[in-house]
Parts: sequence; structure tokens; C-alpha cells
Amino acid sequence: MERLRKAVIPAAGLGTRFLPITKVIPKPMLSVLDKPTIQYIAEELSSVGIEEIIIVVSPDSDIIKKHFSKADALKERLLSDNKMDLYEVLEKTEKFKVQFVVQEVANGLAGAILCAEPFVKDQPFALLLGDELICADGEQKPCMKRLAEIFEQTGKSVIATMEVFGDDVSKYGNIGISDETDGVMQVNAIVEKPSVNEALSNNAIIGRYVLSGEVMGMLKSLKPHGNEIYLTDALDTLAKDGKLLASCFEGERYDVGGKLGYVKANVELALKSKEIGKDLKEYLIGLVERLK
Ligand code: UTP
Repeated sequence: MERLRKAVIPAAGLGTRFLPITKVIPKPMLSVLDKPTIQYIAEELSSVGIEEIIIVVSPDSDIIKKHFSKADALKERLLSDNKMDLYEVLEKTEKFKVQFVVQEVANGLAGAILCAEPFVKDQPFALLLGDELICADGEQKPCMKRLAEIFEQTGKSVIATMEVFGDDVSKYGNIGISDETDGVMQVNAIVEKPSVNEALSNNAIIGRYVLSGEVMGMLKSLKPHGNEIYLTDALDTLAKDGKLLASCFEGERYDVGGKLGYVKANVELALKSKEIGKDLKEYLIGLVERLK
């Protein structure tokens, strides 16, 4: 079976929920603490041995390319000032093997994935949506590592899920499950944002996938809904053919595509920071008292 070598990160959305900052700064460059969200996502792939990352960007997103390119003058300055820790921070931004492709018109997620087709061709690929950060700590297995393992053991496409309850089921794609072994679920149907009564299970689809080589071809031949084609339609076909698996991720997920999730991610990751975590905790405890 073909090894997983490529990853696609669609990051070309309009970012309207963050206007006006996204008028000039693309949403993937918004920082959680001191790092743009797009770098957190690229780092999720470090556990997987991916050889090439393809980031789909909107026109005028040169700033994202610049972030991943070399900063020789600044690095020389940090070296001469003996600021080695900061030098290493910069080195880490340069280590990714990234290709960029422009999505000229934001015509939806599946449109963005298709822009990566010249790089991916008919090979399997990891797909990571730029709006979510998934963090694993300590003993937890990184989400992408688990998906890659399942793909390499079975050759089937696999999606990450999380458990949701009550009204939350209507916020996400939802899966039907025909079988479950060692935490790997066989998916037999998909419904997009169902009502509570229509939901097939308590398992919601999140933005991490490993997709087999046939998916790109399927996307090309899907029937459009208006101007858009839907990734969900391709996933539903895979599910009905018995070719789609799912696994519940371990760790924390932050929905950084919206304001509340973005602020939560900043607070929680800042609490883990060696530099400011302790002071922030004291501040938050005082704040909670004042809010009572
Ligand atoms: P969303 O539709 O949730 O987010 O796309 P958005 O368009 O970036 O932001 P809002 O809702 O206007 O604030 C989910 C993911 O798919 C990418 C986005 O960048 C995001 O990571 N996407 C979406 C594309 O790459 N191209 C598109 O045409 C649409």
C-alpha cells in the first residue's frame, strides 16, 4: 500500500468572522500566544513523517509564505547577540517542506482541496483544516499519528471525530457507525449538521482526515450544489462503499476559526507557557473573584 507522504492544509477562506483584522492579515496568521495558527497545524504533522505540506492560500497571502521562509538577517543578529533560544524559535519556522498553491476564488473547502491536486495527484493525503488546533499532551497519542497508523494498517480513508451531546450535534457533520473495534469505527453514512432527531450517533467530524488516493478523483466528478462541491458527498460515498473509518481523537481541540474558541485557545496555551503561565493563572484567579 502507498505510504502517506503528503498533507494538504486549506487556509484560503475569507475569514469573515475576524473582520476587520482579516482585511489585511489572513486568518491563518492570527497568533495564539506568539505563534500563527498555521504553524501549530504544520507542527501537528511532525509525528507523522510527512514529506511535503501543501498549503492552499488566498491571493495576497504572501505573508504566510514569508512566515515559513528563511530570515537570515534576523537570525544573524540573534546569533551575534547570543540569543540562541530565539534563534532556535526562528529555525523551527524554516524546517517545514511547504509548497503553496493559490485558490483564486474562495469557492469552498472542496474547491480548496482540488487546488492541491497537481501536487497530490492520486496519492493518499492528510487533510488538516486551518480553523482547528488539536493538542495532545504527555501520554496522549497525537490525532494525526493515530489517523496515519489506521490508514497504514487498513488502506482505508479515516476521519477524526469527537463526542458531542444535545444541541451540539447540529453544529457538525455526524457519522453512522456499523461496527467498532479497538476504537476504530466503521462508518456507514454521513449527515451534515443534523437536527438532534436526525443524528446517527454522538460522533461529530472534526477537521483532521487521512484520505485515500481515490478521493481527489471523486471530488473532480462530484455534482455541484450551486457553485460548490462538498467534501461530505465524497465521504458519504466512501462510507456507503465500506471504505471509511473513524477514530475519536485524544487531547484538546480548539476552534480557533471563531472568536470564543480563539480566545480560549490563547488563554489555555498561555497557561501552559513557562514564561507567563504562572502569572496569568494568578491574574485569572483574581479576575474570577472580581467577576463573582
Ligand atoms: P470556514 O468556512 O469555516 O472558514 O472554512 P473561513 O472562510 O476561513 O472563515 P469565516 O467563516 O469567513 O470566518 C474552514 C476551513 O477551510 C478553508 C478555511 O481557510 C478554513 O481553514 N477554506 C474555506 C478554504 O481554504 N477555501 C475556501 O474557499 C473555504
